[in-house]
Amino acid sequence: MLEEVRRNLNPQKLRSGGRRAKQALRKAGMASAGPVYGRLADAGRSVPIPPKARVVVSTLVLRRPGHVTVPIDRLLVGAQAGWTAREFAERTDDLLWPSTRLVDGPHVDLLRLTDPTDEEILASPYGRLARRCIDAGGRYFGATDDAGIVAGARSFLSGEEGERRPEQSGRLDPVLVAPVRGSDYYQVLDGHHRLARAAARGETTARVVTKWLPVTTPLQDLLLRMSWLDGTKELYQPIDAPELAKSWTTVRRCTDRLEKMVKLLAERGVTGSYLDVASCYGWFVAEMGKAGFDAQGVERDPLAVPLGKAVYGLREGQIGTGDAVELLAYSDRVYDVVSCFSLLHHFVLGRGSVGPEALVKLLDRATGKVLFLDTGQENEAWFRTSLEGWNAESIADFLRRHSTFDEIIDLGPDDDAHPPYADNYGRHLFACVRT
Ligand SMILES: C[S@@+](CC[C@H](N)C(=O)[O-])C[C@H]1O[C@@H](n2cnc3c(N)ncnc32)[C@H](O)[C@@H]1O
Repeated sequence: MLEEVRRNLNPQKLRSGGRRAKQALRKAGMASAGPVYGRLADAGRSVPIPPKARVVVSTLVLRRPGHVTVPIDRLLVGAQAGWTAREFAERTDDLLWPSTRLVDGPHVDLLRLTDPTDEEILASPYGRLARRCIDAGGRYFGATDDAGIVAGARSFLSGEEGERRPEQSGRLDPVLVAPVRGSDYYQVLDGHHRLARAAARGETTARVVTKWLPVTTPLQDLLLRMSWLDGTKELYQPIDAPELAKSWTTVRRCTDRLEKMVKLLAERGVTGSYLDVASCYGWFVAEMGKAGFDAQGVERDPLAVPLGKAVYGLREGQIGTGDAVELLAYSDRVYDVVSCFSLLHHFVLGRGSVGPEALVKLLDRATGKVLFLDTGQENEAWFRTSLEGWNAESIADFLRRHSTFDEIIDLGPDDDAHPPYADNYGRHLFACVRT
């Protein structure tokens, strides 16, 4: 059967020509989408032009005239201590800072404290934000030490608006925001304290001045750089971040497969270690960790490491980077549970460094008790020709013939065949079990 599949091999037109052209442009750094855009927008803001000219450009050219009203819960925290949000995120190694809603941020949090001690202020997210600015080489509204941080926090708590420009004799600048690309959120460029105070007063909207030019967040940029996603606004595994909610498609729900895995493992009394092969940024690693397994992942794309740490709180080293075939071939380690999702068909299609039989043998060797596996199938529109004959029955048969497991159990199809992929997915999850 596999021979038939191989004979039918056709370069798949997985994507439309328009998208291909866009990808080519993006790879050449010429398309507006993608990380290049975010950096250019930031670079524009830090062009060394005389202060007066900067004010004219910033006020008359880059800002939309007049005020607009925005919902406060659509604001994300941004620039700190004179750095753009991206610069601050990079300096403080906090990828998700610009993905944090103002209402969940440190300024609003401080206003919830009643009569805090100095120690409580310093230990609060607000105190830690100020400390991070100082440790990164900046000042936090003039503060350079703990005493300054506490004094600043107390004046904010006592009702002073903060962010007052002395050179403007007490007049407040307008709250300044920029739209976040591909989302209905805005990043705060100036005015966190005033906005936090409005939120604490129970106001739901704010009058702000907004820039024309959208910004991107470091999270968006990193996702767009992941090799597998190839610049598309897709999440292969779920990520809960406000600025991704509107335009980013979560391709695989993942929870359906996890539920089946956890149920089978509980029924069989399997615990211990877990390895996810081709783990992407590690949703299954994180979830199996929560389920009590000593969980690790292996992934070819190195960007999976910072992403997994930021979005799922994975530990340093929890995702290993490299080619799965090489890593499995050179390791003798056996894990109680192994999973390998949506990788095998690439080997069937001839895109792996070895044949699919060899990949299955390596997975078999690394598995102590249960291997969970799914693969692209012939029922999917994009594999109708190239994977003809590769279906639940033939896959189970293939696994039986090329592994040493006692049972090959078909746990049924995934629940991912929804728009825009209604004609794809529905991949069967197999549990390969040693009894
Ligand atoms: C289709 S995605 C599947 C992600 C994940 N397994 C899931 O189902 O949610 C394939 C992933 O495998 C990774 N990958 C592809 N070939 C690989 C290889 N030879 N070794 C390690 N990772 C690989 C890609 O970078 C990508 O993250």
